[in-house]
Amino acid sequence: MLARDWYYNERRQIGLDSAVASIYDRHDDSDLRARAALTMLGVQRGWRVADIGCGHGVLACEAALLGAEVDAIDISPAMLALANIHARDCRVAIRTQPAGLLSFAYQPNSYDLIVSEFTLHHLPDFWKAVALSRIYHALKPGADFYLRDIVFVSMPDGRERDVEEWADFSIKNHDFERHSVITHMRDEYSTFGWVIERMLTEIGFTLVAVDYHAPLHGTYLLRKPKHGEQG
Ligand SMILES: C[S@@+](CC[C@H](N)C(=O)[O-])C[C@H]1O[C@@H](n2cnc3c(N)ncnc32)[C@H](O)[C@@H]1O
Repeated sequence: MLARDWYYNERRQIGLDSAVASIYDRHDDSDLRARAALTMLGVQRGWRVADIGCGHGVLACEAALLGAEVDAIDISPAMLALANIHARDCRVAIRTQPAGLLSFAYQPNSYDLIVSEFTLHHLPDFWKAVALSRIYHALKPGADFYLRDIVFVSMPDGRERDVEEWADFSIKNHDFERHSVITHMRDEYSTFGWVIERMLTEIGFTLVAVDYHAPLHGTYLLRKPKHGEQG
């Protein structure tokens, strides 16, 4: 990709949600949850897997424990340092890459699985589509992309109720503090689930499963069609 003076600077979001990442990581069962997801996704020994926005590297290390070759990618070197410590504790090898959704290096058609959890909301919508298109090109035909994020589930007129319900739920169940919710709403770019779905299908993904659960949580299982199949 040519360097352009108008290209989005992903690094401006570094550190914005490290508090959020540590909250996710504080779930004692985050390794079990990651393993269950990877098992559901059928991860096999020798698969090439990328976790983009890997944070503390819990899912990346679980994939490595299942025998995958893992690229743990994050825009924040501090997060990658924590991911490396986690890998050492788990006695697995992961390949860390200090890069973002818009800049990670890849060979076209090379990954068996790409995962990105609670990271896409760092990009404005135009750049989300650019990032999703890069992920599409990085996947092998027939391979899956597993995306989870904070997304709005109602139509725009329900936004205030949505956000307040999410704030209450997160503060009660995830040790969130109110300022994390405020930062998320003011400085980050969560969008509507129907916007994300349209982006994904325009890019060519097949929506295998979509689940909106808990306030503002969206989980998407996407597949890049095999050659000759319709998206
Ligand atoms: C909320 S944390 C989620 C971490 C982990 N995926 C999880 O679910 O626990 C978001 C992560 O995305 C990273 N990040 C922010 N902007 C990014 C970008 N443009 N590309 C890749 N990673 C980014 C942050 O450094 C942070 O580690």
